[in-house]
Amino acid sequence: MKFPTSTLVAFAVLGFTTPAFAAWKNLTKSDYTLKQSAYSSAIANLDKLLPNAKIGSIMGNLNHDTKSSSPNVKNLVSGTSYTWENSGSFDDMNTKKWYPQGLTTSADAYETGVYEGFRVHLVSWHSDHYEGGKRGARITFVNRETKKYRHVLLARPKGDDNFEAIEGLHAGGVMWYGNLLYVVDTDGGLRVFDLNHIYTVDDSIDDKIGKVGDKYGAYGYKYILPQVRMYAWQKKGGVEDLRFSFVSLDRTTKPDSLVVGEYSKVRTDCRVVRWDLDYTNRLLKTSGDVATASEAVQHGETKVQGATSVDGKYFLTQSGGDLVSFTWKGGQKIEKDVFPAIPQDLSLEKGVGLWTLMEVEGKRHVCAVDVGKF
Ligand SMILES: *[C@@H]1O[C@H](CO)[C@@H](O)[C@H](O)[C@H]1NC(C)=O
Repeated sequence: MKFPTSTLVAFAVLGFTTPAFAAWKNLTKSDYTLKQSAYSSAIANLDKLLPNAKIGSIMGNLNHDTKSSSPNVKNLVSGTSYTWENSGSFDDMNTKKWYPQGLTTSADAYETGVYEGFRVHLVSWHSDHYEGGKRGARITFVNRETKKYRHVLLARPKGDDNFEAIEGLHAGGVMWYGNLLYVVDTDGGLRVFDLNHIYTVDDSIDDKIGKVGDKYGAYGYKYILPQVRMYAWQKKGGVEDLRFSFVSLDRTTKPDSLVVGEYSKVRTDCRVVRWDLDYTNRLLKTSGDVATASEAVQHGETKVQGATSVDGKYFLTQSGGDLVSFTWKGGQKIEKDVFPAIPQDLSLEKGVGLWTLMEVEGKRHVCAVDVGKF
């Protein structure tokens, strides 16, 4: 690629050594809109039909153990890393049925870092390669004190008295804000789940989901977390559809905002887009029922698996294990081989570090890195 001399002079004056900086640019915010649906009318009825479980009761009903681990990660925060249970016939470390993708913590939910008294991690997994993805996605609830966990299945209401799996939901990223869990839907936008309405179902029903006779089941899971809302991507002529590959919260710049990014193996015009949040109702800020981006940025990177912004600095994880950082003042920096296996979604915990997880079988670690060192 050739740059005019004046551009190169500008790079030199600003102290940038690489034209890679030029790849980052602001786009038109009004091209990036989402349409908010109403709150699901089925929830009030399902509340009458199914026992509602609080986080406290789920935390008292965890059935698996995380194990502390020590992956070779640059600037790892000591004591943060853990992996999943692998015992007897149960093996979350190596299973090819489920792949961990998204990560968020109770420090996203509330600034205090705790949710109803618990320090919790929520991790999403997809089942794209497991019986056609018919079970959709699940969320792991990890108690950071006892180090125990349990998987909870995501579901959506079906009619007024039933629910179904969200087949094929990749759940590449999750973000927890107050009682709401935002889950990315690659081509559709954001699905919203309400932690005030987690239902207990009959875990002896292991081959079906929804109403079975006079009981309710969900492929053997004990709890389901129902979708209550959708933020649907709005197409715009001349604008490549945004892919909703991952999501994070930015609490470091006010107002709080949600940062979405897209994965592509080859495209060099991928974007990160920000929508502002309303902390009073935990929803996106809208005008009417439309949420318009408060920032839309294009970068030149491929194979991006996670993104967030911390105090005005963007961070991107990449398939190869690199961590990209960028500021408008300082340009882009790529720290090579930070992670030994494909890192994913990002989530900042103030005072601890920047959390991510790795998805590859046998190398499925969750860990935090010291964000100040990048
Ligand atoms: C892009 O927009 C941000 C604000 O969102 C601003 O701080 C930055 O300077 C802009 N960058 C350029 C190159 O205009």
